[in-house]
Amino acid sequence: TNNIKIAPSILSADFAQLGAEIARIDAAGCDWIHIDVMDGHFVPNITIGPQVVKALRPHSEKPFDVHLMISPVDQYIDAFADAGADIISFHPEAGPHMHRTVQSIKARGVGAGIVLNPATSLSCLDHIMGDIDLILVMSVNPGFGGQKFIHSQLEKISAIRKMIDASGRDIRLEVDGGIDRATAPLAISAGADVLVAGTATFTGGPDKYAENIAALRGQ
Ligand code: DX5
Ligand code: ZN
Repeated sequence: TNNIKIAPSILSADFAQLGAEIARIDAAGCDWIHIDVMDGHFVPNITIGPQVVKALRPHSEKPFDVHLMISPVDQYIDAFADAGADIISFHPEAGPHMHRTVQSIKARGVGAGIVLNPATSLSCLDHIMGDIDLILVMSVNPGFGGQKFIHSQLEKISAIRKMIDASGRDIRLEVDGGIDRATAPLAISAGADVLVAGTATFTGGPDKYAENIAALRGQ
Protein backbone atom coordinates (compact mmCIF):
# COMPACT_ATOMS: atom_id res chain seq x y z
CA THR A 1 0.00 0.00 0.00
CA ASN A 2 1.27 3.46 -0.96
CA ASN A 3 0.86 6.76 0.87
CA ILE A 4 -2.11 7.97 -1.14
CA LYS A 5 -5.21 8.43 0.97
CA ILE A 6 -8.65 7.88 -0.55
CA ALA A 7 -11.50 9.93 0.86
CA PRO A 8 -14.87 8.86 -0.56
CA SER A 9 -17.35 11.72 -0.72
CA ILE A 10 -20.62 10.55 0.79
CA LEU A 11 -22.43 12.97 -1.51
CA SER A 12 -22.68 10.02 -3.93
CA ALA A 13 -23.83 7.54 -1.27
CA ASP A 14 -27.42 6.41 -0.71
CA PHE A 15 -28.72 9.18 1.59
CA ALA A 16 -31.52 6.93 2.84
CA GLN A 17 -28.91 4.68 4.48
CA LEU A 18 -25.91 6.89 5.16
CA GLY A 19 -24.80 5.08 8.33
CA ALA A 20 -24.61 1.74 6.52
CA GLU A 21 -22.86 3.36 3.55
CA ILE A 22 -20.16 4.79 5.82
CA ALA A 23 -19.62 1.39 7.44
CA ARG A 24 -19.32 -0.13 3.94
CA ILE A 25 -16.69 2.31 2.64
CA ASP A 26 -14.81 1.89 5.91
CA ALA A 27 -14.79 -1.90 5.43
CA ALA A 28 -13.86 -1.39 1.77
CA GLY A 29 -10.57 0.23 2.82
CA CYS A 30 -11.08 3.97 2.54
CA ASP A 31 -8.72 6.20 4.54
CA TRP A 32 -10.86 9.23 5.33
CA ILE A 33 -14.57 9.97 4.94
CA HIS A 34 -15.24 13.19 3.03
CA ILE A 35 -18.39 15.00 4.08
CA ASP A 36 -19.67 17.80 1.83
CA VAL A 37 -21.64 20.45 3.68
CA MET A 38 -23.55 22.86 1.39
CA ASP A 39 -25.83 25.70 2.38
CA GLY A 40 -27.66 26.73 -0.80
CA HIS A 41 -26.00 30.14 -0.50
CA PHE A 42 -22.26 29.72 -0.91
CA VAL A 43 -22.96 26.96 -3.45
CA PRO A 44 -26.16 26.20 -5.36
CA ASN A 45 -27.03 22.99 -3.49
CA ILE A 46 -28.08 21.96 0.04
CA THR A 47 -26.79 18.81 1.72
CA ILE A 48 -26.36 18.12 5.42
CA GLY A 49 -25.59 19.85 8.70
CA PRO A 50 -23.85 19.06 11.99
CA GLN A 51 -26.73 16.95 13.29
CA VAL A 52 -26.25 14.43 10.49
CA VAL A 53 -22.46 14.41 10.96
CA LYS A 54 -23.02 13.64 14.64
CA ALA A 55 -25.44 10.82 13.79
CA LEU A 56 -22.86 9.30 11.41
CA ARG A 57 -19.98 9.47 13.86
CA PRO A 58 -20.61 6.07 15.53
CA HIS A 59 -20.57 4.29 12.15
CA SER A 60 -16.81 4.59 11.52
CA GLU A 61 -13.66 5.43 13.44
CA LYS A 62 -11.92 6.76 10.34
CA PRO A 63 -11.20 10.49 10.12
CA PHE A 64 -14.17 12.67 9.16
CA ASP A 65 -12.91 15.15 6.57
CA VAL A 66 -15.54 17.88 6.64
CA HIS A 67 -15.63 20.19 3.62
CA LEU A 68 -17.65 23.29 4.45
CA MET A 69 -19.22 25.08 1.48
CA ILE A 70 -21.10 27.53 3.65
CA SER A 71 -21.01 31.26 4.26
CA PRO A 72 -20.58 32.69 6.81
CA VAL A 73 -18.50 29.89 8.27
CA ASP A 74 -17.24 31.04 11.69
CA GLN A 75 -20.44 30.48 13.64
CA TYR A 76 -20.60 26.80 12.64
CA ILE A 77 -17.07 25.65 13.51
CA ASP A 78 -17.97 24.58 17.05
CA ALA A 79 -21.02 22.64 15.90
CA PHE A 80 -18.96 20.58 13.43
CA ALA A 81 -16.16 20.07 15.95
CA ASP A 82 -18.74 18.88 18.50
CA ALA A 83 -20.25 16.58 15.86
CA GLY A 84 -16.93 14.75 15.54
CA ALA A 85 -15.06 16.33 12.63
CA ASP A 86 -11.35 15.47 12.54
CA ILE A 87 -10.53 17.98 9.79
CA ILE A 88 -12.56 21.06 8.90
CA SER A 89 -11.86 22.81 5.59
CA PHE A 90 -13.38 26.06 4.38
CA HIS A 91 -13.13 28.40 1.42
CA PRO A 92 -11.35 31.76 1.87
CA GLU A 93 -14.31 33.43 0.10
CA ALA A 94 -16.62 32.20 2.88
CA GLY A 95 -15.58 34.80 5.43
CA PRO A 96 -13.56 37.96 5.88
CA HIS A 97 -10.99 36.59 8.36
CA MET A 98 -9.32 33.45 7.10
CA HIS A 99 -6.64 33.48 9.81
CA ARG A 100 -9.23 33.82 12.58
CA THR A 101 -11.26 30.94 11.17
CA VAL A 102 -8.17 28.72 11.04
CA GLN A 103 -7.37 29.61 14.66
CA SER A 104 -10.89 28.78 15.81
CA ILE A 105 -10.66 25.36 14.14
CA LYS A 106 -7.23 24.69 15.71
CA ALA A 107 -8.52 25.82 19.10
CA ARG A 108 -10.91 22.86 19.00
CA GLY A 109 -8.03 20.43 18.38
CA VAL A 110 -9.31 19.80 14.85
CA GLY A 111 -7.16 19.86 11.68
CA ALA A 112 -7.64 23.01 9.58
CA GLY A 113 -7.83 23.07 5.80
CA ILE A 114 -8.14 25.77 3.14
CA VAL A 115 -10.08 25.00 -0.05
CA LEU A 116 -9.21 26.70 -3.33
CA ASN A 117 -11.89 26.98 -6.01
CA PRO A 118 -10.72 26.46 -9.60
CA ALA A 119 -10.25 30.20 -10.17
CA THR A 120 -8.87 31.03 -6.71
CA SER A 121 -5.18 31.92 -6.63
CA LEU A 122 -2.79 30.01 -4.42
CA SER A 123 -1.35 33.32 -3.24
CA CYS A 124 -3.93 33.40 -0.43
CA LEU A 125 -1.91 30.58 1.17
CA ASP A 126 1.32 32.61 1.45
CA HIS A 127 0.87 33.81 5.01
CA ILE A 128 -1.09 30.90 6.44
CA MET A 129 1.20 27.96 5.55
CA GLY A 130 2.51 27.83 9.13
CA ASP A 131 -0.99 27.37 10.56
CA ILE A 132 -2.78 24.83 8.37
CA ASP A 133 -2.88 21.04 8.13
CA LEU A 134 -4.42 20.59 4.69
CA ILE A 135 -4.89 22.32 1.35
CA LEU A 136 -7.81 21.16 -0.78
CA VAL A 137 -7.72 21.97 -4.49
CA MET A 138 -11.13 21.91 -6.18
CA SER A 139 -10.87 20.31 -9.60
CA VAL A 140 -14.55 21.12 -10.27
CA ASN A 141 -16.70 24.06 -9.25
CA PRO A 142 -18.15 23.13 -5.86
CA GLY A 143 -21.81 22.21 -5.51
CA PHE A 144 -22.34 18.86 -7.18
CA GLY A 145 -20.86 15.42 -7.62
CA GLY A 146 -20.30 13.85 -11.01
CA GLN A 147 -18.68 16.79 -12.80
CA LYS A 148 -15.74 16.69 -15.19
CA PHE A 149 -12.17 17.17 -13.88
CA ILE A 150 -10.78 20.62 -14.75
CA HIS A 151 -7.29 19.88 -16.06
CA SER A 152 -5.94 23.42 -15.52
CA GLN A 153 -5.86 22.61 -11.78
CA LEU A 154 -2.94 20.20 -12.24
CA GLU A 155 -0.56 23.13 -12.57
CA LYS A 156 -1.90 24.59 -9.33
CA ILE A 157 -1.48 21.25 -7.56
CA SER A 158 2.19 21.08 -8.66
CA ALA A 159 2.83 24.64 -7.50
CA ILE A 160 1.26 23.93 -4.10
CA ARG A 161 3.29 20.72 -3.79
CA LYS A 162 6.45 22.86 -4.13
CA MET A 163 5.16 25.33 -1.52
CA ILE A 164 4.44 22.52 0.94
CA ASP A 165 7.82 20.87 0.42
CA ALA A 166 9.59 24.24 0.83
CA SER A 167 7.66 24.89 4.05
CA GLY A 168 8.95 21.67 5.61
CA ARG A 169 5.55 21.29 7.31
CA ASP A 170 3.32 18.26 7.39
CA ILE A 171 0.47 19.53 5.20
CA ARG A 172 -1.80 17.16 3.22
CA LEU A 173 -2.57 18.11 -0.40
CA GLU A 174 -6.06 16.95 -1.30
CA VAL A 175 -7.87 17.11 -4.65
CA ASP A 176 -11.66 17.08 -4.99
CA GLY A 177 -13.86 16.71 -8.06
CA GLY A 178 -13.93 14.49 -11.12
CA ILE A 179 -11.41 12.02 -9.70
CA ASP A 180 -11.68 8.65 -11.44
CA ARG A 181 -9.30 5.94 -12.66
CA ALA A 182 -8.07 8.21 -15.47
CA THR A 183 -7.59 11.45 -13.50
CA ALA A 184 -6.34 9.97 -10.18
CA PRO A 185 -2.85 9.23 -11.59
CA LEU A 186 -2.64 12.79 -12.97
CA ALA A 187 -3.46 14.32 -9.59
CA ILE A 188 -0.99 11.98 -7.87
CA SER A 189 1.85 12.82 -10.29
CA ALA A 190 1.15 16.51 -9.78
CA GLY A 191 1.76 15.98 -6.05
CA ALA A 192 -1.59 15.24 -4.43
CA ASP A 193 -1.61 12.80 -1.52
CA VAL A 194 -5.33 12.67 -0.71
CA LEU A 195 -7.97 12.02 -3.36
CA VAL A 196 -11.67 12.71 -2.83
CA ALA A 197 -13.92 10.51 -4.93
CA GLY A 198 -17.71 10.46 -4.89
CA THR A 199 -18.97 8.97 -8.14
CA ALA A 200 -15.88 6.80 -8.63
CA THR A 201 -16.22 5.19 -5.18
CA PHE A 202 -19.93 4.46 -5.18
CA THR A 203 -20.38 3.45 -8.81
CA GLY A 204 -21.49 -0.16 -9.29
CA GLY A 205 -22.95 -0.52 -5.79
CA PRO A 206 -21.58 -1.91 -2.49
CA ASP A 207 -19.97 -4.98 -4.03
CA LYS A 208 -17.63 -2.71 -5.99
CA TYR A 209 -16.54 -0.26 -3.28
CA ALA A 210 -13.33 -2.11 -2.34
CA GLU A 211 -12.30 -2.57 -5.96
CA ASN A 212 -13.11 1.07 -6.79
CA ILE A 213 -11.09 2.39 -3.85
CA ALA A 214 -8.09 0.16 -4.63
CA ALA A 215 -8.14 1.26 -8.28
CA LEU A 216 -8.06 4.94 -7.32
CA ARG A 217 -5.10 4.28 -5.07
CA GLY A 218 -3.39 2.76 -8.11
CA GLN A 219 -3.48 -0.82 -6.79
C1 DX5 B 1 -18.28 19.04 -4.86
C2 DX5 B 1 -17.82 18.24 -3.68
C3 DX5 B 1 -17.14 16.99 -4.04
C4 DX5 B 1 -17.96 16.01 -4.83
C5 DX5 B 1 -17.04 15.13 -5.61
O1 DX5 B 1 -18.72 20.29 -4.41
O2 DX5 B 1 -16.92 19.02 -2.91
O3 DX5 B 1 -16.60 16.37 -2.87
O4 DX5 B 1 -18.80 15.23 -4.03
O5 DX5 B 1 -17.82 14.30 -6.44
P1 DX5 B 1 -17.17 13.51 -7.65
O6 DX5 B 1 -16.07 12.68 -7.12
O7 DX5 B 1 -18.33 12.71 -8.17
O8 DX5 B 1 -16.68 14.53 -8.65
ZN1 ZN C 1 -15.86 18.06 -1.23
